[in-house]
Amino acid sequence: MPPKQTEADLTGATPRRRPKPDILEVGGRKLQPATLMMGHGYDPMLSEGSLKPPIFLTSTFVFESAAAGKRHFEGVTGKRPGGAEGLVYSRFNGPNQEILEDRLGVWEDAEDALTFSSGMAAIATMLLASVRPGDTIVHSGPLYAATETLIGKILGRFGVHWLDFPAGASRAEIDAALTRAQGMGRVALIYLESPANPTNALVDIEAVAASRDALFAGEKPPIVIDNTFLGPLWQKPLRHGADIVLYSLTKYAGGHSDLVAGGVVGAKAMLDPIRAMRNTIGTITDPNTAWMLLRSLETLELRMTRAGENAAKVCAYLRDHPKVERVGYLGFLEEGSSQADIYRRHCTGAGSTFSLYLNGGEPESFAFLDALKIAKLAVSLGGTETLASHPAGMTHLSVPDARKAALGISDNLVRISIGVEDPDDLIADFTQALDAV
Ligand SMILES: Cc1ncc(COP(=O)(O)O)c(C=O)c1O
Repeated sequence: MPPKQTEADLTGATPRRRPKPDILEVGGRKLQPATLMMGHGYDPMLSEGSLKPPIFLTSTFVFESAAAGKRHFEGVTGKRPGGAEGLVYSRFNGPNQEILEDRLGVWEDAEDALTFSSGMAAIATMLLASVRPGDTIVHSGPLYAATETLIGKILGRFGVHWLDFPAGASRAEIDAALTRAQGMGRVALIYLESPANPTNALVDIEAVAASRDALFAGEKPPIVIDNTFLGPLWQKPLRHGADIVLYSLTKYAGGHSDLVAGGVVGAKAMLDPIRAMRNTIGTITDPNTAWMLLRSLETLELRMTRAGENAAKVCAYLRDHPKVERVGYLGFLEEGSSQADIYRRHCTGAGSTFSLYLNGGEPESFAFLDALKIAKLAVSLGGTETLASHPAGMTHLSVPDARKAALGISDNLVRISIGVEDPDDLIADFTQALDAV
């Protein structure tokens, strides 16, 4: 007797088994991200009962039948509504990346998420999906240096213009910038970075959203924000009016200084064009890195909470040290200032990356950095270990002196990212390094 025809045979759909539905609440209680990081988006029974997802090292996926293959491509090309089902080719997606994307979105209650081979790959793919020649990008300033290069120098070669406003701008200043941009043609997007790198200045996302909504009657440019410094724990910009949130997952999300990756979260309709661009140019994260990120996300809340507590203790110590001019830390914003007001409305923690201004200049900064015994002398941030660097002489060496002065990137500035070590050991390290100055 021939085998009974399944529904899949009849419809041409792939009969690959579907994961069990995710458990998102227990007893009416919505489960928190820290809980969901252990299993969300993964059904062990689809992988031989393996508790942890295997790493799927494959470049392509087998179709059940020719009809199923056709049906898939009908979904990809839009000939059939509903989009593509299942997996077809690893430049588009894979199981490790899909699980990672499900879990990344959870932190911000986002409908959809995408992951990339670096933070810059995420930013570049989003920009390529959004701009056309003659468009204007309005952005807060300063931005991470490579983002500024991409917008100003690279997209400029393709006829894309930009206009910026300072990160701490008031509603009136934001209104003025957006009105000027409207006079230049189509505004493709409003791009924010908050806190800004390296000044730590906060952008008033709520004011940007209110301004955009008041000034744009028809097509509204999306508000995109790089949330690398405080996200996804201490700032959730989708709640404050942003449409797309970007990450260098290399930092707090990866958290162990052992991988490079990027992410984008937001509504599916916002992310679909970015997904299509990623499919075309192949900027997706690889399965091994995705697997490492899954491991990292399990401890994200623990790590970020500890790093934040450590930073608060270390900054309280450094603030009163006689060799310290001041500490640029979000926990020390001046009561009543507009920055403190933005912080109160947008942030739930001060992070663990801050600026230490020593009394003196480059010799004092270098003496301090060279004397550190626990903290490592390296750029980057958000790892389990404490890192320290000298922006004026390193990451921002090529920035013109006048711009450095405007951004407060002085020779006596040391950038510090606090890790999860014992806080008193870190204080002992900073004490002996300051003694050496
Ligand atoms: C705020 C910010 N955005 C984006 C990036 C770029 O990320 P990646 O190095 O993962 O490409 C960085 C890297 O330092 C960053 O600090």
